[in-house]
Amino acid sequence: MADPTRRATLGAPAPSGRGDADDSLAVRTDGLTKRFGHQVAVDSLDLRVPRGAVYGFLGPNGSGKTTTIRMLLGLVEPTAGSRSLLGLPIPQGATEALHRVGSLVEGPAFHPYLSGRANLVRLDAADLLADPRTSAERIDRALDRVGLRAAAGKRYRAYSLGMRQRLAIAAALLAPRDLLVLDEPTNGLDPQGTREVRNLIGSLASDGTTVLVSSHLLSEVEQICTHLGVMREGRMVAQGTTAEVRGAGVVTVRVETGQPERAAEVLTRMGATSVSTSPTGVRADAGDLEPEAVVAELVRAGVGVRGFALDRPSLEDLFVTLTGEGFDVSG
Ligand SMILES: Nc1ncnc2c1ncn2[C@@H]1O[C@H](COP(=O)(O)OP(=O)(O)O)[C@@H](O)[C@H]1O
Ligand SMILES: [Mg+2]
Repeated sequence: MADPTRRATLGAPAPSGRGDADDSLAVRTDGLTKRFGHQVAVDSLDLRVPRGAVYGFLGPNGSGKTTTIRMLLGLVEPTAGSRSLLGLPIPQGATEALHRVGSLVEGPAFHPYLSGRANLVRLDAADLLADPRTSAERIDRALDRVGLRAAAGKRYRAYSLGMRQRLAIAAALLAPRDLLVLDEPTNGLDPQGTREVRNLIGSLASDGTTVLVSSHLLSEVEQICTHLGVMREGRMVAQGTTAEVRGAGVVTVRVETGQPERAAEVLTRMGATSVSTSPTGVRADAGDLEPEAVVAELVRAGVGVRGFALDRPSLEDLFVTLTGEGFDVSG
């Protein structure tokens, strides 16, 4: 029987060597599309989640995140396109793949009058692939992992929102997982609960688990993400490492000068676009221009430069640009 004193962590998964031949991606979709009647919820999506990544799947409400996740998990049939998890095509490889994938799509139904542990016992018993003899061990490990061991005996209804969400993640962790797919795990949480969940995701990732986490709030997940994918109206509008997505913004050059017209000529000649002047200076989209070259050219043209700056948009600004108005970045 399970030895309750035995501790194990969900360590970095050993390379399984199964079905991994095609690439190093934990999640891949090609042309993934879902239509509901005339409405296109997900439009030709090419998702790329590298193994080991914490991938922030971001976009406003209604942009297609949940529909994508449901297709990944085989809960919804795509209209077109293909998807694979851990190198295994879905639905053909679903049985093998999904055993290695933990998910939180819509919070599992927990019984309010049962303790956290008793709820996990019920869920574990429902997993036909799980060995009932090692149930207690699995449950203790999952409770440990989310920091709920001490509160395991409390009734679910006495849990804070953060504890409830951590229990939901514990349920996703009952079996060792290579990939966790979490749909809006911080939804409805207060700042404390959000922090708890964020820290938990960070520590799972540092153990080597790949995490795909969706959110309509950039600020809630951005700090822990190695990669970002930004959705707008069913389409991916930016995807890459966090640094790449950050670098995708238009850089603005600002020159303070008493000769704005002459400065504008120089910038235009050098290839800057959207050049606009004001009585005190000029601003333009810098494109690939090197600041050193711009300053040298301005000076050579006899422009008296009083101030010079390159403005890179904040990630927040970039998201508003990418996703349109109404993207709630304030938290
Ligand atoms: N079962 C469904 N039937 C009809 N429309 C749906 C269904 N599920 C989602 N949609 C629509 O698809 C779009 C994307 O929804 P969803 O994937 O839930 O977005 P998100 O998770 O980013 O908020 C929305 O316009 C939504 O109304
Ligand atoms: Mg959703």
